Parts: sequence; C-alpha cells; structure tokens
Amino acid sequence: MFRAAFTLTLCLSGVALAHDLEALKLDTRKNALPVLPKVVAMMQETVAGKGAVAAIPVCKDAAPQLLKEQSVKTGWAMSRVSLKTRNQATGTPDLWEARQLADFNIRAANGEKVETLEVGEVFTENGKPVFRYMRAIPVGDVCLKCHGPVESIEPALKQVLEGTYPGDRAFGYAKGQIRGALTVRRPL
Ligand code: HEC
Repeated sequence: MFRAAFTLTLCLSGVALAHDLEALKLDTRKNALPVLPKVVAMMQETVAGKGAVAAIPVCKDAAPQLLKEQSVKTGWAMSRVSLKTRNQATGTPDLWEARQLADFNIRAANGEKVETLEVGEVFTENGKPVFRYMRAIPVGDVCLKCHGPVESIEPALKQVLEGTYPGDRAFGYAKGQIRGALTVRRPL
C-alpha cells in the first residue's frame, strides 16, 4: 500500500515535470525564435540589394544585437554557437552545447527536420534551477554565399573574411545542414 502510494507520487511528479518542461519550451520558443527569421530576411535583403561584403554586418552585428535586445527584455542569456565557428570568441559552445549540437547532427541524419530540432533541460547550478534551451539554425540558400564551400566564395568576400577571422572554420556547408544553434539560458 505504502509502496503503491510512493510509486504514484513519483509518477505524478514525473508528469508535472514533463508538463513544466513543455511550458518552458513553449515560452522560450515564443520569446527567442522570432529573431531567427528576422535575421534571414535581413540577410536576403542586404545580399540582394548591396552584395555579400556589405551583408557581413548582418551576421556580425545585427544578429547578436537582436539577441541582446531580447536578452535585455527577458533577462535570459541568448547567443549563437556552432561546432565550426567563424568567430571563436563568441560562437564556441560549452560542453553541454557541443553535445546537443552533435546530437542535432545525429537526429538530422536519422530524418528529423532540421528546422524544428530543439532541446530543453532543467539543471541545478550553484544550488539554483536553470533552464537551458537550444534550437538548430539551418543553412539556407543565402547562407552559402559566406558559409558554403570555400572554393565557391567570391574572392573579394573571401579576402575580407580571411582578414577578419583567422582560423575561420565556418565554410563547407550545404543547404539544409545545421550551421549552429541558438542557445538560451534562463534562470528559474
Ligand atoms: C555576408 C556573409 C554572411 C552570410 C551571407 C551569412 N553569414 Fe553567418 N556569419 C558571417 C560572419 C562574418 C560571421 C561571424 C560573426 C561574428 O563576428 O560574430 C557569421 C557567423 C554566423 C554564426 C555564429 C557562429 C559562428 O560561426 O561564429 C551563425 C550561427 C551564422 N553565421 C549563421 C548564418 C546563417 C544561418 C546564414 C544564412 C541565413 C548566414 N550565417 C549567412 C557571415 C555571413
């Protein structure tokens, strides 16, 4: 009897946790994801209107700036990470993020849609609960201008990139691959 009650309590708390996790994901999506299509649209517009060299600031300044604005609004940390970074200083994943990025690649290889790949987990850090969330950033047509095979990059653009980013590893992508992820850390 005691055992049955104990098992029931455990099950119920499991259900409650799963429920909380879904609610956290939903709320994080709502506040963080709109930045992604905004950057893509801005990139398409700038590349088409002004050319690729002039579009560098979209990935360099506008994307981090939009994420920063959302961070200020929500109080959550938000940034972009990748397994093959262009900007090592800002884009290098920590261990958990690197594992999730590797897992995203495996999940994509197993047929999951790259556009909807995400993960959310609750951790205890220094005695306090933290929700961490990641969402895959897919490579679209416009991204190939600067992240496609290195031999396909316009010479003038390549020169600027080489001058700015020593050790740039963010080349060689194909459409539909995972360029990186949006990563969110929110205190609970
Ligand atoms: C005009 C060139 C250009 C285009 C086009 C471009 N990027 Fe970038 N991307 C860059 C540069 C430059 C950086 C480094 C930014 C910095 O200094 O933080 C970068 C960095 C990134 C990062 C951060 C991780 C890292 O490697 O440093 C992600 C994620 C990213 N780009 C995704 C994309 C996606 C997705 C697209 C297509 C929608 C795209 N980029 C199109 C130039 C470009």
